[in-house]
Amino acid sequence: MMDWTTSHYRYLARQLSRHTLLYTEMVTTGALIHGDTPRFLRHNSEEYPLALQLGGSNPKELAHCAALAEQYGFDEVNLNVGCPSDRVQNNMIGACLMAHPDKVAEGVRAMIAATSLPVTVKHRIGIDGRESWDDLCEFIEKVSGAGCRTFIVHARIAVLEGLSPKENRNVPPLKYDWVYRLKARYPHLEIIINGGIRTFAECREHLEHTDGVMLGREAYHNPWLLAGVDSEFFGQPMPVQSRHDALRAVLPFIQDELDRGVYLSHISRHLMGLFLGQPGGRQFRRYISENAHKPGSGLEVIEQAMARVPEPADSVTDSAIVSA
Ligand SMILES: Cc1cc2nc3c(=O)[nH]c(=O)nc-3n(C[C@H](O)[C@H](O)[C@H](O)COP(=O)(O)O)c2cc1C
Repeated sequence: MMDWTTSHYRYLARQLSRHTLLYTEMVTTGALIHGDTPRFLRHNSEEYPLALQLGGSNPKELAHCAALAEQYGFDEVNLNVGCPSDRVQNNMIGACLMAHPDKVAEGVRAMIAATSLPVTVKHRIGIDGRESWDDLCEFIEKVSGAGCRTFIVHARIAVLEGLSPKENRNVPPLKYDWVYRLKARYPHLEIIINGGIRTFAECREHLEHTDGVMLGREAYHNPWLLAGVDSEFFGQPMPVQSRHDALRAVLPFIQDELDRGVYLSHISRHLMGLFLGQPGGRQFRRYISENAHKPGSGLEVIEQAMARVPEPADSVTDSAIVSA
């Protein structure tokens, strides 16, 4: 998610779950090819498994960037066919491509030829003017015909004329049953459902009908939810026992980032959700908001903020909250 799932957020997320597949923000092929490539692809090997999301439609450029993804160590390369913003529409990037399934297929074919990484597509169930079940099936058939095996489906259409990107994440109704129908109709494809999913109970329900669940906003605003994923869905132990332990595990990474000149406030804003709903959580956030932007702010701000949250004496109590 643009400006949200930065390396800083992902590093925290990885402390909470070892097995969740994490995604980068979307990077356009133009930015990668003509801009500061190493900066756009920068990540920490701790973040793996990690997918790089690309925005673009030119097959040659997509192929080049898919090869870069492999070269830089990503585990998957994903094509964004869901972003509704005007800025990207003008460049034939994102959800507007749902009107051009042949073009998406061509791009996916080129990507597959250029990398041995899995090439996946994230898309909507339609866009205004192309929102029928048949349109969606045509899209899936053409793109899977090009070799894509995994589709991450945001279960609402994007309205490209008249709604803002934010409205496009809330206003068009969610149609989970359409995603279920896709899995039923194309059982050989991996169908991952996305959109408005917030709890493990909802995840379990969706997993009855699909192969996987993608969480966006909830995973960002309430990252501690991720701490239960490994035990709940992967049969593995929880990697951390408390929010405090998770944050402590991020501190050396924060120091490294500070050492290379990153401002603390650029890092700390992605930690804000960690103590959501906890006693002292508000004080944690306030302390960071009031201090992280000050010149020369360092790790001590995070430590001071963390000290405002009482540490649970019994870590089991904390983990019980996750599965509640
Ligand atoms: C701030 C923000 C930025 C986003 N950026 C991207 C993006 O770069 N690529 C993408 O595929 N989806 C992006 N999305 C959409 C989410 O991935 C997701 O599809 C959408 O929010 C619905 O899922 P959710 O209800 O779990 O958040 C973004 C969402 C938000 C809130």
